[in-house]
Amino acid sequence: MEREKITLTGAPETMLATLYGRALDSHRPNSVLHDTAAAHAISRIDYDFRKTRIKGTTAVGVAIRGKVLDDWTSEFLTAYPAATVLHLACGLDTRVQRIAPPSTVRWIDLDVPDVVALRKRLITSPSGDYRLVGASVTADSWLAEVPNDRPTVAVFEGLSMYLHKADGKRLIERITSRFPTGQLLFDVYGTTGIKLQKLVPAVRNAGATLHWGLDDPAEVEAWHPGLRCLDALRSVDMPGLDKLPLSGRIGLKVVSKIPGLRDAGRILRYRF
Ligand SMILES: C[S@@+](CC[C@H](N)C(=O)[O-])C[C@H]1O[C@@H](n2cnc3c(N)ncnc32)[C@H](O)[C@@H]1O
Repeated sequence: MEREKITLTGAPETMLATLYGRALDSHRPNSVLHDTAAAHAISRIDYDFRKTRIKGTTAVGVAIRGKVLDDWTSEFLTAYPAATVLHLACGLDTRVQRIAPPSTVRWIDLDVPDVVALRKRLITSPSGDYRLVGASVTADSWLAEVPNDRPTVAVFEGLSMYLHKADGKRLIERITSRFPTGQLLFDVYGTTGIKLQKLVPAVRNAGATLHWGLDDPAEVEAWHPGLRCLDALRSVDMPGLDKLPLSGRIGLKVVSKIPGLRDAGRILRYRF
């Protein structure tokens, strides 16, 4: 089978790093995510994945972050089985396949058009109430086309840091004002993480630039009446870090003692 040549650059290219992380994790005996679909997608892509410098600790770290967001999404769907899921900046992440939501759920995967075109060639879309949308999250039209009749969870992993703060704020304002109730599940860099972005090979080698860093999760609460932060999990405190290789566990112990570095990344859950 002919493999897909990659012509993506910048932020869209970085989704190959997270995909590769989940694929590597799936091969480990104590895999966190068991994302065999990621491993299958990797085998069909013609790309030098060494460029991402993802391995051992970073791969498992990606999988653990994915697991937290999978679990929070599933919890929302247990509470609201007839919900809408906005999975923004989906890349080649098969979250919908991992979660396998009930047929009552409306699921929307969205990324920029080039990524969506590649996704269509590599990943079979699930049946049921599913749409794959090629658009920028900053554009207006895609959201207006999503019916606003249901509780809605927006999950966006590895996106906020690529946005300018004003665009991230507007995205959150638009989602929270469109739907009756729901949750926002996403990860952020702190401002120290943004300053140290040149130390992140997957970002640097893709030629991507990170912009928005958030240090105080409470700041977002002011962006919509009734928006409340439910969880702000530091990356160094994620559940499942015991599955990291030993060197990663030691490194994390050190990082978790250093203010600034300790807050370099968080996973956030808000309700509105
Ligand atoms: C680090 S990857 C994360 C992909 C996926 N969430 C994952 O975890 O594998 C960043 C993703 O953000 C997407 N992205 C960046 N800016 C975007 C925008 N303005 N609108 C939609 N997607 C965007 C990129 O195309 C890329 O797929």
